Amino acid sequence: MLPEFGSARFVAEMTMKHLILAPLRGFTDVVFRNAFHRHFRGVEEAVAPFVTSIKGRCIKPSHLRDLAPADNRALPVVPQILSNHPDEFVCLANALFDLGYREINWNLGCPFPMVAKKMRGSGLLPHPDVIDRILDQTLHGISGNLSIKTRLGRFSGDEMDHLITVFNRYPLVRVIVHPRTGVQMYTGRVDLNAFDVCLTRITHPVVYNGDIKDLATFQSLASRFPASAGWMLGRGLIANPFLPEMIQSGTRLICHRNARFEKFHDDLVDGYRRQFSGPGHVLDRMKGFWGYFAADFPDGRRMVKRIRKADSLFQYRQAVTAVFTGPERWG
Ligand SMILES: Cc1cc2nc3c(=O)[nH]c(=O)nc-3n(C[C@H](O)[C@H](O)[C@H](O)COP(=O)(O)O)c2cc1C
Repeated sequence: MLPEFGSARFVAEMTMKHLILAPLRGFTDVVFRNAFHRHFRGVEEAVAPFVTSIKGRCIKPSHLRDLAPADNRALPVVPQILSNHPDEFVCLANALFDLGYREINWNLGCPFPMVAKKMRGSGLLPHPDVIDRILDQTLHGISGNLSIKTRLGRFSGDEMDHLITVFNRYPLVRVIVHPRTGVQMYTGRVDLNAFDVCLTRITHPVVYNGDIKDLATFQSLASRFPASAGWMLGRGLIANPFLPEMIQSGTRLICHRNARFEKFHDDLVDGYRRQFSGPGHVLDRMKGFWGYFAADFPDGRRMVKRIRKADSLFQYRQAVTAVFTGPERWG
């Protein structure tokens, strides 16, 4: 039922921003996605880190562990495929549709040279003709919706001109644009003028992704690009998991941040203890997260150094307790 005009629910629904958790391989896996969803609000869906298609063989069971439907019921998830081969793509995509997923995302953004030199991820962007052929041969064969996550090009934003023509030829459900080139990796500035061109010229819904690290950045992007069909948050959300709530409420004033973060953190540790075979793996994973968690703190480097020195879960716990009992963080 539609909310009554002017009611609190009406206002809330009219102003809800469509926020999407970005895929970050090694970080936003099922353990993170579920723990995040249990402790924080504001995100409506997640795109999962990519699964690679395999030559001559559709799927390895270990590939799909992160996407087991029973573990992915809380936060809606869109699986992502890294592939440059239509038959392998169709096979993997249909296996995922058979699991109940309704949309598959194609990764055209991975910047890593090892991936790109095999003409996968952003390595495909200088070859719009190949992308055209893959879309042509794939879209007939898959039994659900396809979206794309792309950069502006591999070497130059000029590559986008041809890419847009190709994207517009096919029934994609949306295009997520990270307005950097592949060779930029994760450095340098996002090109907002180029994103503007994508938003104007791509005929599918276009989602913005890149460097949304605080409320002010989001607000500035949202006022410049009101036509964006959604906002994907990656490193900024991991660094500050309260960010989606700040964006939805329009305020940075969120209470009990340390206590809430600690509960989320402990849930994450428990999840990885269940998933990994030994404490060393749990420790490595959590140390990786602190590279992001501490990003905005004035004393972040020192804090991470102390946490990284821990060589048992006991020492690790002591180091992070000092953070949780210190001044209020994450905001
Ligand atoms: C460690 C790491 C892993 C990533 N893994 C993926 C991935 O599996 N699939 C993908 O499309 N993008 C991946 N990305 C890119 C992010 O989804 C996102 O596009 C990028 O970080 C920019 O957004 P942000 O500034 O909000 O983080 C990864 C980025 C990082 C830093």
